[in-house]
Amino acid sequence: MSAMKFVLVGCGRIATLHVAGYAGRDDAVLWGVYDKNAGAAKKFGAEHGIEKIYDSYEAVLADPEVTAVELLVPHHLHCEMTVAACKAGKHVSVQKPMALNLEECDIMIAAAKEANVCLKVYENFVHYPPYQLVKKMIADGEIGEVRGIRYKMNNGALNSNNAPAAKARAKMAGVKDVDSLPPTGWKVDTLSWTWRLNESLSGGGPLVFDDGYHKFSLFVDLLGPVEKVCAWIDETPVFPTVYQDAPAVIMWKYKDKKVYGTWDITSSEELYIQGKYYTCDERMEVTGSRGVLWITRCTAEMLADVAPVLMYRDGKLTEYWDMPHDWQDSFINSTRDFIESVKNGTPPLLTGERGREVLRFALAAIESARENRAVELDAYGDKPLPKRKGFLSIFRLGKK
Ligand SMILES: NC(=O)c1ccc[n+]([C@@H]2O[C@H](COP(=O)([O-])OP(=O)(O)OC[C@H]3O[C@@H](n4cnc5c(N)ncnc54)[C@H](O)[C@@H]3O)[C@@H](O)[C@H]2O)c1
Repeated sequence: MSAMKFVLVGCGRIATLHVAGYAGRDDAVLWGVYDKNAGAAKKFGAEHGIEKIYDSYEAVLADPEVTAVELLVPHHLHCEMTVAACKAGKHVSVQKPMALNLEECDIMIAAAKEANVCLKVYENFVHYPPYQLVKKMIADGEIGEVRGIRYKMNNGALNSNNAPAAKARAKMAGVKDVDSLPPTGWKVDTLSWTWRLNESLSGGGPLVFDDGYHKFSLFVDLLGPVEKVCAWIDETPVFPTVYQDAPAVIMWKYKDKKVYGTWDITSSEELYIQGKYYTCDERMEVTGSRGVLWITRCTAEMLADVAPVLMYRDGKLTEYWDMPHDWQDSFINSTRDFIESVKNGTPPLLTGERGREVLRFALAAIESARENRAVELDAYGDKPLPKRKGFLSIFRLGKK
């Protein structure tokens, strides 16, 4: 059997991490790339030894050689490009968040069903090895019955290559020597922030709606469906008239169990976070009837000297180091999940239906903050997101 051929569509920041999962396989090959910015596609192809550079999305979909596409494009394009791929009979992996609203999710799910192709939502946190270990330990009863979850997310801007307007924010905060620490994190193109901070293209705030999709996904993956959510989502200026959706606190209750979760998000202009990727650091704590488990990182490495997983039980703290724990490892596993699904005709971990459930959780949290009340997920209607402050948000450049 010849190798299945996969094409990356969108050669921006995240595409870099979508390559390694194909390495060393003879059943699947990263066959080609396309980006509407032809220069970006060419450069990416040259850097990663990918020869086939398509000059339009239509050309990718018309190529009978192509088995599947990975869509790595701004969120407002996820729905229409997924539907087009399904109609062309191509299997699809679409980066998170799945879409801008539930109606789009339904359209995407129906299109994949109709064409009988795989639809995967590419959310990598559920494939992060320390999280996978904790999930298994919980299933094995290591900490007894789960009683609650606590999650913390820090965004640090000091000397960050990817935090928006990092230098200006540090100066505004009165930091005297902005360059006293080496630059940290990977570089993000300014153009990437222009669509992210524009609500008609990104669908919501960069922290709760966009990056937050990962966290909502983890919470559902670990303990199942959520009954209701209650949130406060405030705003922090990252530049005069441009705002981030933090600080925020989100609480939820699981369906049919007396288990609650809390998650708080902070954005700190003077906080230096070491790491190779985004300067965003996460920690998770799961309390059980008998013990407590911690995952000490995911994207960045604020607690680099602490074990990725820790368990406290029976008066003893145990460290777990023996697993890959670079953020990239979650991408490698996620890509493999997609390849295996396409190859075997089995569902990926994050199906369209699961992706929709995660999006509903996120949208219900945002509705809760907007309306200052708890929101039952089953009763959640598909309303437009609130307009945030900031000049970028008032431009509605994209079609919705
Ligand atoms: N899993 C993660 O942790 C993670 C992290 C970052 C981004 N993402 C997701 O990946 C997607 C892309 O994000 P990014 O950070 O790489 O953005 P980016 O802005 O860096 O790159 C987007 C790329 O898409 C290209 N593009 C735009 N419109 C296109 C079109 N019609 N056809 C083909 N190419 C087009 C742009 O030219 C650009 O090169 C988003 O959905 C985002 O949520 C996921």
